[in-house]
Amino acid sequence: MIDVLVIGSGGAGLSAALAAKEAGASVLVIGKMYPTNSQTSMAQGGMNAALGNVDEDHISLHIQDTIKSAHGLCDEDMVRQMCGDAPKTIEWLESIGVPFSRLDNSKEGIATISQRQMGGASAKRACYAQDYTGLKILHTLYDTCLKEGIDFMDEHYLLNLIVPEDTVKGATFLDIRTGEVKQIDAKSIVMATGGYGSIYHGFTTNMYGATGDGIATVLRAGGAVSDMEFIQFHPTALKHSCILVSESARGEGGYLVNEAGERFIDELKPRDEVARAIFAQMKEAQRVFLDVRHLGEEKLMELLPQEVELCKLHEHVDPASELIPIKPVAHYSMGGIDVDYALEVNGIKGCFAAGECSNAKVHGANRLGGNSLLEITAFGRFAGENAYKHSIYASSKPADDAQLQKDQKEIEAIFSKESSVNFYSSREALGNLFYEKVGIVRENGQLNEALQEVIAMQVSQQQMGISDKNKTNNQNLIEFLEFKNALLLAPTIISAAIARDESRGAHYKVGFEEENEDFKKHFVLQWKD
Ligand code: FUM
Repeated sequence: MIDVLVIGSGGAGLSAALAAKEAGASVLVIGKMYPTNSQTSMAQGGMNAALGNVDEDHISLHIQDTIKSAHGLCDEDMVRQMCGDAPKTIEWLESIGVPFSRLDNSKEGIATISQRQMGGASAKRACYAQDYTGLKILHTLYDTCLKEGIDFMDEHYLLNLIVPEDTVKGATFLDIRTGEVKQIDAKSIVMATGGYGSIYHGFTTNMYGATGDGIATVLRAGGAVSDMEFIQFHPTALKHSCILVSESARGEGGYLVNEAGERFIDELKPRDEVARAIFAQMKEAQRVFLDVRHLGEEKLMELLPQEVELCKLHEHVDPASELIPIKPVAHYSMGGIDVDYALEVNGIKGCFAAGECSNAKVHGANRLGGNSLLEITAFGRFAGENAYKHSIYASSKPADDAQLQKDQKEIEAIFSKESSVNFYSSREALGNLFYEKVGIVRENGQLNEALQEVIAMQVSQQQMGISDKNKTNNQNLIEFLEFKNALLLAPTIISAAIARDESRGAHYKVGFEEENEDFKKHFVLQWKD
């Protein structure tokens, strides 16, 4: 039996796998896609660590900024741990080969890591690799996993966790390539399955598959989820494709301007404030642009080459000479699987969670740019170490195959059902509904309407199914399963948003525009029976 099964092969999963392996565990990483295909690459601008290489900085300032941005909803001990671990995590990433951009201060051939400004930070604190930071970290982690001989099973879709008596014993998966439903037994599991930004289908920087599969699975298995109403809108996505333009473009001096060419907000405020300011301009029928022309082509190509390419390719504008049309879209889920101080899932022993799928209470109501890469690597490692520790004492008796049989039957049932409602149009409708009624600015009437519409969708889900009946490589089936998970999570987001009659961080409600002490608390959801 495997000691540590890591589900999800993005930055958090790979960091967990490496830490568990270093500790002595046998490790298997299983993912629905390939390791280099993950949201980690969407964290382009940098990773925070108070190195003080450019500005005077200190871990206490990093802690202070993170707590401030969380608006009272973080666990300060967890924030202290994460920010305190940041310098050594950067050192570790550097030691395995992440090519961080350097300052021009080489002494004996070694220049120090450069750092840039991100929103809400009191110093230039984000270590970066041009504007490919997440991607470079991801590739380096994957290379290192291969060097360490860690096993991978790609293209396996998580169906359910096996939790006989509140302790995890393994999980069931659909092998996408063959269509086989499999059970994998494990002593410990690390969930690193990503967020649920794709519920905002068509209005998100996230890939289609970011449907909160792992979070839904934990909920079904009796684990807790929390703070689901807190979704971060990234201020600058390309207007027509929703492709991310990194915050580092503003960090390097880019402006936000309206049609009149006026700047209307301090571009380096935290994301919730900047996104709302853009939204307000858009409500006044103003188009909004990111302006980086004054930075000059040379600087753009040196520091932001990916952004330049993406703008040319997807928006057909050259940032060196033209304004970039932008809009805010869903980017990051602050809520997720509720975990304790060891990152163990509340309600499921032996199951740990790290990265965007988890809610370790380090981001609270609004995450700071640059803290996601920090969390996935620092806490990914922490989850891997703790999963290994659990595995030492865990029973190696495998679970029976009851869950496997149940899931085999469910997949068969999907194949044999004739569908009369097209779930692809419902997926699109869900995205529109969420952006319009569960978006940047919320209002109770609209939230209640959204809840009714989601419930109606859940009912009509009985008539939904797949048209492609091939057992192998069936993308239609995977997208259907993903949609079911998104639909399961949708009411948890809306109900929590309805219950929170206040404005805090990324949750802003008309009629309740202030923070209210009565709501300085987490909404935790858990299914009983
Ligand atoms: O804008 C960005 O580069 C995104 C960074 C992040 O989400 O941390």
